[in-house]
Amino acid sequence: MAVFKIVEVGDIVLKEKARPVTKFNDNLVKLLENMADTMYDAEGVGLAAPQIGIGKRVIVLDVGEGLIEMINPEIIEKNGVDCDVEGCLSIPGVIGSVERAETVRVKGFDRHGEEIICEASGLLARAFQHEIDHLDGILFVDKAIDIQTKK
Ligand code: CO
Repeated sequence: MAVFKIVEVGDIVLKEKARPVTKFNDNLVKLLENMADTMYDAEGVGLAAPQIGIGKRVIVLDVGEGLIEMINPEIIEKNGVDCDVEGCLSIPGVIGSVERAETVRVKGFDRHGEEIICEASGLLARAFQHEIDHLDGILFVDKAIDIQTKK
């Protein structure tokens, strides 16, 4: 178990475009496990590798339906519009309403390099969009239509 310190807003790694993973090896497995440990420790529903200082296109998610690991994720279809409140482990104490697609179809790879496709709606669709934005250096506060400090 390795819980990493979560990088906070202001760090350059959160503004950079993350690089695609090309090697599906033990280092990737270790990264995925460290990311899941860090996400669960922080009680988040998603984490992107840049949030632990690693500029690679890797995300983990768990909205209460089990752990999803996805490498080089890409949204290949989106439908509908939904506006709801979000927060981010890298921006503690801040929440804001963000417009997202209601449902998404996401293509990526699992830890073995096998292609996977996820159909997501509700919170999971929102989490996918939020985490994939992290891989492009985009934070929810860049898109939020209102920003509030959490009491
Ligand atoms: Co975030």
